[in-house]
Amino acid sequence: MTVSSAPGKVYLFGEHAVVYGEPAVPCAVERRATVSVSLRDDDHVRVRAEDLSLNGFTVEYSGSTGGRPDVDVPAPLVEAAMGYIDAAVEQARDAADAPDAGFDISVESDIPLGAGLGSSAAVVVAGIDAATRELGVELTPREIADRAYRAEYEVQDGQASRADTFCSAMGGAVRVEGDDCKTIDAPALPFVIGFDGGAGDTGALVSGVRDLRDRYDFAADTVSTIGDIVRRGETLLADADPDADPSEELLSELGEFMNFNHGLLEALGVSSRSLDSMVWAAREAGAYGAKLTGAGGGGCIVALDPTPETQTGLRFTPGCEDAFRAELATEGVRLEE
Ligand code: MEV
Repeated sequence: MTVSSAPGKVYLFGEHAVVYGEPAVPCAVERRATVSVSLRDDDHVRVRAEDLSLNGFTVEYSGSTGGRPDVDVPAPLVEAAMGYIDAAVEQARDAADAPDAGFDISVESDIPLGAGLGSSAAVVVAGIDAATRELGVELTPREIADRAYRAEYEVQDGQASRADTFCSAMGGAVRVEGDDCKTIDAPALPFVIGFDGGAGDTGALVSGVRDLRDRYDFAADTVSTIGDIVRRGETLLADADPDADPSEELLSELGEFMNFNHGLLEALGVSSRSLDSMVWAAREAGAYGAKLTGAGGGGCIVALDPTPETQTGLRFTPGCEDAFRAELATEGVRLEE
């Protein structure tokens, strides 16, 4: 058996706009998906998945690739998880030139599904790493990122950037602009995450932004303005000492840019009542800034606050199901055992 794990992420800046070639800066956070893979002696794939959401339902099912489980959990979440696992299996088979390889796969994750923290990318990245190693092939994190991107691209009908998968494979803070992906230095930012217990449909949300952008110049301008914010934000990070605690000045400026970025995402129609109310609760509790993270529609916000105030404020916010601190995950995909 091979066990690999990979982290989830938050977007400091740039989701959605990154799909249209603007830069984005996601940061890996210490919430991981762990995938255990054992090679079978037939070509079947059996999947067991636990704790696929923070609110803790447990899923156990089995089925061959392409089959769908019959379980008492929200079907779209299971559908989505199975789609990504299928795609990861195909990438591992292809990488090892083993088209008929069968696997027993077990997934454990403390990243809520479809909630903007990169759960699918983390499962795909860890799954490809574990399955290829089980087949005797060791890919570099960059190669895993590339294959994981192809898996996501396929599942999301061609509407995916490299940001989530690259960040999960490499860890730390990264910068993605089209096919140009690199890790960047960043100080340990004090991320606080608020989760509304829900999930967004990434494909539908990306399509919605695409429609707006195609119809209105001002929507296209909004997307490129997000790119401007990212470019300004990344220079702040580049000028900061990555080994020192972030200064108050840095947090204030980053927070201001996050607030601006959230406003533009809201204008593009990807926020929601609960995300907006968590963003406002975080700001009122004293966070330097707050924005939705990921595709939106529901799920998580990310705020910057080194004190406990934002987490406490969010916990008392109607619509917020959980609030927690998330450390920057400096390690990306890794072999656990
Ligand atoms: C989803 O986590 C982030 C989006 O920008 C889509 C993508 O980059 O693939 C909305």
